[in-house]
Amino acid sequence: MTKPSVLIARAVFPEVVDRLAAHFDVEANQADDIWAQHEFINRLQGKAGVFVTTSERVDEALLAQCPDLKICASMAVGYNNLDLDAMTRHGVLGTNAPDVLTETTADFGFALLMATARRVTESEHYLRAGRWTKWSYDLFAGAEIHGSTLGIIGMGRIGQGIAKRGAHGFGMNVIYHNRSRLSPELEAECKACYVSKEDLLGQADHVVLVLPYSPAAHHTIGTAELALMKPTATLVNVARGGIVDDKALADALRDKVIAAAGLDVYEGEPQVHSDLLTVPNVVLTPHIASATVPTRLAMANLAVDNLIAFFTEDRAVTPLNPTVLAAARKD
Ligand code: 8YV
Repeated sequence: MTKPSVLIARAVFPEVVDRLAAHFDVEANQADDIWAQHEFINRLQGKAGVFVTTSERVDEALLAQCPDLKICASMAVGYNNLDLDAMTRHGVLGTNAPDVLTETTADFGFALLMATARRVTESEHYLRAGRWTKWSYDLFAGAEIHGSTLGIIGMGRIGQGIAKRGAHGFGMNVIYHNRSRLSPELEAECKACYVSKEDLLGQADHVVLVLPYSPAAHHTIGTAELALMKPTATLVNVARGGIVDDKALADALRDKVIAAAGLDVYEGEPQVHSDLLTVPNVVLTPHIASATVPTRLAMANLAVDNLIAFFTEDRAVTPLNPTVLAAARKD
């Protein structure tokens, strides 16, 4: 029996390629070339499955040109790069990688918050530049973490993880805003109080963004929202580029509308708005919130589990548009 053909769009752990190769006829990209969309489409010809990350776009135009494609398995939890409506219309299943990265990403969200509020990278750059000649009472004096108010926008699994770290580990007063309110049990577990977005922005000492990207979430934080925040506040974005208006944020940091920001994601990444690169009060990391070896391996293996379950048992572990599976069963 011929094996289904699967394309792996980006470089991944060799053991993950080996695992896929045991089940499928695999074309890998271990050179990690970044393909233009037309090249991606060319490589998908004759492929029944594709393994993607957040950097590949699967949209109507691609699907119309890839009639053999049946499943697109992403190793990311966020899936704003996949047009699920178009995939459903074309009978293509999408899968993502939830849960396995929750705690690791929450750890990083908290690390970025602390690095930002306590000015860790800014002070390190100062030291490395040989500028530390004397101690002084206000040298890199930052904002308090313990006992302060933590505002979380986007209270999914990762947001809840950050809330628990703040409330239980650092005695923070946690407030949150989300499309829907959590159950009383979950609110109690996270020690978190639901507030409006405006109240959150006005009350929080630290605002952490963990909401998924959608057109409705575009520029959730822009000039008007930054103006509602305390001048001493910290803003952290571990969600997606586009949730924050990066140019407006750079202006607000320069003008001290807020004290500091920590960003792991950017509009148009891997490009970073040049104004962000010149303000000192921002910590910038290259989309690494889930980047530990065990977690990235678990994410990639979940995508592989989805591909194997789909081709061997007509099911998926974490389907995004399960109606495709039900429709295929009826055929
Ligand atoms: C990934 C992410 O590391 O899972 C997501 O949605 O943003 C990150 O955890 C990365 O995008 C993997 O493709």
